[in-house]
Amino acid sequence: MFPGNFAWGAATAAYQIEGGWDADGKGPSIWDTFCHGKGRVFEDQSGDVSCNSYQLWEEDLGCILQLGLTHYRLSFSWARLLPDGTTRHVNKKGVQYYEKVIDDLLANNVLPMVTLYHFDLPQALQDQGGWKSSEMAGIFDTYAKFCFRTFGDRVKLWITINEPYVCAKMGYEDGLFAPGLKEQGVSAYIVGHNMLRAHARAWHSYDTLYRATQGGAVSLAINSDWAEPLDPASSEDMAATQRYLAFTFGWFAWPVFLTGDYPGVMRSNVERRSKEQGYQGRPRLPTFSEDEPSVLGTADFFALNYYTSRKVKARGACGGMLSLDSDRDAEGVTDASWPVCGVSWLAVFPEGLRNLLRYIKDTLNGPEIYITENGFSQVGLVDLEDVQRAGYYLDTIQEVGKAIQEDGVDVRGYFAWSLLDNFEWASGYSVRFGLFHVDFSGAEQKRSSYVSGKEYAKTIAKYRTQAGTDDLTTE
Ligand code: NOJ
Repeated sequence: MFPGNFAWGAATAAYQIEGGWDADGKGPSIWDTFCHGKGRVFEDQSGDVSCNSYQLWEEDLGCILQLGLTHYRLSFSWARLLPDGTTRHVNKKGVQYYEKVIDDLLANNVLPMVTLYHFDLPQALQDQGGWKSSEMAGIFDTYAKFCFRTFGDRVKLWITINEPYVCAKMGYEDGLFAPGLKEQGVSAYIVGHNMLRAHARAWHSYDTLYRATQGGAVSLAINSDWAEPLDPASSEDMAATQRYLAFTFGWFAWPVFLTGDYPGVMRSNVERRSKEQGYQGRPRLPTFSEDEPSVLGTADFFALNYYTSRKVKARGACGGMLSLDSDRDAEGVTDASWPVCGVSWLAVFPEGLRNLLRYIKDTLNGPEIYITENGFSQVGLVDLEDVQRAGYYLDTIQEVGKAIQEDGVDVRGYFAWSLLDNFEWASGYSVRFGLFHVDFSGAEQKRSSYVSGKEYAKTIAKYRTQAGTDDLTTE
């Protein structure tokens, strides 16, 4: 079902697990600032200590080995490496930390996939305008080149930016994530645009300066729900579904994989709403400049973060305010038959992943795909015997198998989110996504395997053995 070289992974992100927020010369990031303010995160919690992976990396490695992973996806904390975000000052202790992580992984035959940016911009760069500033593309490129140069002899799979949609929407539209701005209908498009420009610059740098000697691959992680019409017989719902996908998936996938520009329906809807609202400012959806390196073609594979699905219905304009929501003009609801797992947004629909994989294959000319995140959460009472979550993982992995075998989708790997329970952004520690439980109440942050972790390990072992047997019989 799964090829022998299939990547079996789990993922984490620096701010969510490392702790050591000001240890050994690390600079502050926007998440440090955000959490240290009041009333933004569940019970005013923060990632100050979290799983303390900065001190306890070896324990994480133990978990990785227990699972039998072939790959581990981690992110670098930009401000741990470059405290003010620039290469003017390199924090040697930060470099040493990631070198140890990478070297330990490789010594144990686990391949690293590294994300350069997972929501935690150095505060010093935020103070200069952050992602709203067009300068960020060049600044990010310098950081990316530093990472390729320093770690690229050992890291062969790179993600530039994780979920630009979430950064833009949650950070600048809804204000629920750092930097906590609520500039509706305007800033998210600028932030998304600068993230695409930054990603493209870094990809081109890799392509021209490092690819020949390092031989790795670079992409960006795009999150998307699967979406289907609430009423398949309704042409309004069909059109709304297309808009729903265009405004999440298409916003970042179209420029990089398909056309070099945003989906047409995004442009037309944003322009129309601007006119309707008498908006006088600069066009809200920016234009890619011909004087800059192209964004089209700047991904060596498709990196997909998938969690959930929606049934979509048409909706009239919502109120007089400019917003991403009213631009999109479509509403997603969950189906009553999809169980909700922990958080209200996470309706479980494993077939949704298979459908989305097929959609990516069909619309983007069959790229190689890594599922860089997929997972299920627990809230409230935590049960180490999380049989239900174990089942969801199994069902989802089977759908991935069908996508490969029956639909011919070129899926290269699957990363569960997450290796460990960790700091779930604005929900703090109230939401747990780990394959390993972490005791946040004690001083030791003890890790213990959930049943879902044990079952994932069995699944990996089973498919790897099967693939090994297949290889022998075809030889
Ligand atoms: C996607 C994000 O990349 C990750 O940081 C987050 O914890 C998971 N979604 C779960 O919400």
